[in-house]
Amino acid sequence: MRILIVGSGGREHALVWKISQSPKVKEIYCAPGNAGIAKLATCVPIEPDNINELVNFARHTGIDLTVVGPEAPLVAGIVDAFKEANLPVFGPSKAAARLEGSKIFAKDLMRKAGVPTADYATFDDEESALAYLGKYPGPMVIKADGLAAGKGVVVASNLDEAKDAVKTMFAGKFGNAGHKVVIEEFLKGQEVSILAFCDGKTVLPLLPSQDHKRVGEGDTGPNTGGMGAYAPVPFYTSEVSKQVVEKILEPTIKAMAEAGYPYQGVLYAGLMLTSDGPKVLEFNCRFGDPETQPLMMLLKSDLVDIMEATINGQLAEIELEWYPGSAAGVVLASAGYPGSYTKGEPISGLDSLPSGVEAFHAGTSLKKGQMVTAGGRVLCITARGENLKAALEKAYAGVETVDFKGKQYRTDIGHKAL
Ligand code: AMP
Ligand code: GLY
Repeated sequence: MRILIVGSGGREHALVWKISQSPKVKEIYCAPGNAGIAKLATCVPIEPDNINELVNFARHTGIDLTVVGPEAPLVAGIVDAFKEANLPVFGPSKAAARLEGSKIFAKDLMRKAGVPTADYATFDDEESALAYLGKYPGPMVIKADGLAAGKGVVVASNLDEAKDAVKTMFAGKFGNAGHKVVIEEFLKGQEVSILAFCDGKTVLPLLPSQDHKRVGEGDTGPNTGGMGAYAPVPFYTSEVSKQVVEKILEPTIKAMAEAGYPYQGVLYAGLMLTSDGPKVLEFNCRFGDPETQPLMMLLKSDLVDIMEATINGQLAEIELEWYPGSAAGVVLASAGYPGSYTKGEPISGLDSLPSGVEAFHAGTSLKKGQMVTAGGRVLCITARGENLKAALEKAYAGVETVDFKGKQYRTDIGHKAL
């Protein structure tokens, strides 16, 4: 088979890495990819939002399966365009991707289907949003309705912060994405990421994973795209897992199908494990980054088989096989990230990683034959071990091996689970 992966981050590198192990696969292309992905795939200089060009490329190259990494093209309808051209593609349709593309759509669907989530109200004008806030003294969460590159959520600890968030959103900070907002109750607990393959009817969850969103040790400082992840999550018990499948994933997929938008692809449920049971913080319509990096190192099954079964509505026939133990990924970021950061710093040590450690590239490029930094998140150093402690020791040994000027990372990935 010829496979095309759309995207350029650590998640896409991990997908390319896993797909390259399938005996079914002959050639892999990645659009646009990065310098690490280029070792396993032919990188094609087409941006993920250039849907027409991607369709043309897939048609002319005889691509048998396209896998879409990031949310923006999914929400813009890339899957519909590929299907119209009779090209097999892994990901939800534009209508189904609204689970991530519109927080109001997702919240209203959950309310209707009885899926546990934070209490909320939605607003399309600033005045009523501000008036509503006045009624709640405690911490509140303000969310822009549309896609905002992971920056559209403000957890406000007091009324002034909440009001500021509402004002900046209606002032157009996120363009149209912020002209409608959700104001919701603040939930307390541990966060867990549950990714599940969905073929429109059947839900097949991957192992539970946990991201580390804040830049600083002990979950402090500003939010990032994710500074590290591990899987599985020991406190995600089989009892919690059962509740998540029966009360969250299955009712959501059923409600989507009944409303006429069957969900096919991977559904990412960001959950808070509260004292009242698991509740949904958000849905994403794609694989998580960096959760995908440890998950792909743990997955034993052929990913291409699973993706084909997803597209063909045959997930009921699939059982996921996993390697025993745990996996962990530590993100190496550029100085300044998540604010403005440095670029173009030479990276050393990638050729001397301990065996079994993978460096999934997120933001790298080649400059005159030298690997250099090219993004906020640069690499995700990922390893598998017989347990979480062993996986972390291996991943951190890799972290020590690789260097670039301004390298920053968290030393406490996975600590909550140890
Ligand atoms: P999101 O971009 O939707 O993933 O939200 C970013 C982060 O905000 C989440 O990972 C949570 O840590 C936090 N968050 C979102 N909604 C809530 C909520 N209702 N209560 C507490 N924290 C939340
Ligand atoms: N790890 C967070 C995300 O992929 O949205």
